[in-house]
Amino acid sequence: MIINKTSSSCGAIITDINLEEGFSNQEMTTLLNSIYEHKCLVIKNQDFSHKGYKRFGSEWGTLIKHMLEYLRAPSFPELMVIGNTEKKDKDDAIRNGAAVWHSDGTYIEDSTTITMLHAKEVPVDGGETLIADLASAYEDLDTKLKKEIENLRALHFYGKAEFDKDEHVPAPIRTKKQKEANPICEKPLVMKHPYSGKKSLYGITHSPFKIIGKSEAETKEILKKLKDFATQDKYIYSHKYEVGDVLLFDNFTTMHRAKSNIDVVNKKRTNSRLLWRLSCKGKPRLLN
Ligand SMILES: [Fe+2]
Repeated sequence: MIINKTSSSCGAIITDINLEEGFSNQEMTTLLNSIYEHKCLVIKNQDFSHKGYKRFGSEWGTLIKHMLEYLRAPSFPELMVIGNTEKKDKDDAIRNGAAVWHSDGTYIEDSTTITMLHAKEVPVDGGETLIADLASAYEDLDTKLKKEIENLRALHFYGKAEFDKDEHVPAPIRTKKQKEANPICEKPLVMKHPYSGKKSLYGITHSPFKIIGKSEAETKEILKKLKDFATQDKYIYSHKYEVGDVLLFDNFTTMHRAKSNIDVVNKKRTNSRLLWRLSCKGKPRLLN
């Protein structure tokens, strides 16, 4: 296995390993250490089956079924098929529901830890995922702002934050059951990573709607300031997919979005985008 850091603030590219064929505890330990160090990883040239992907995904924690059940793959409910090739993707609200800054599962009491996206079909142009390095952004905040936010906590609910003009709204909640699946929860604005101990901004987009002890106007001001700061180009790794890539990111130290909106698939499939997504909660198997 070969690991090379990207030239961006976060991310490492991994080559020379075939995970479908199996992997050792030592290799898995290297991958765990790498993601906590680099915050996101791209493992090149993989060709996972459902079974192999589930086995690999389960190494990182307990696999989660998305609360919006219409996003789940019927035969493999922990899997979400993301892109523009499925019947559900004719709906713009679903197809582009991730073209908005977010970390996965900030609105869930038991926070989502790691997410992975395996590219099965990729567009000739575009289709990038952007990853923002929230740990480096936190480190670079001026001392006064750092102190101000150090012990703040926010209330979260799916899709309840303010959005920018260039963002798409998140995939919608459509039923009472979905609305009740994840009640309002409280999260820190500064997260100390449970494994690396590194401090990072956390949950500053998509779901926070009230900072405890602050007014609505103060909440908006603080969250906007942090989001504008963390989305400067210098903190962003833009990933242009190749078939076989597995992009993994640590939701405690990064946020992400689809770079821009994606059209429905064309007849020649030159713009097709098909990513298999798994996400986890809890401890990786080797840290249990
Ligand atoms: Fe996401």
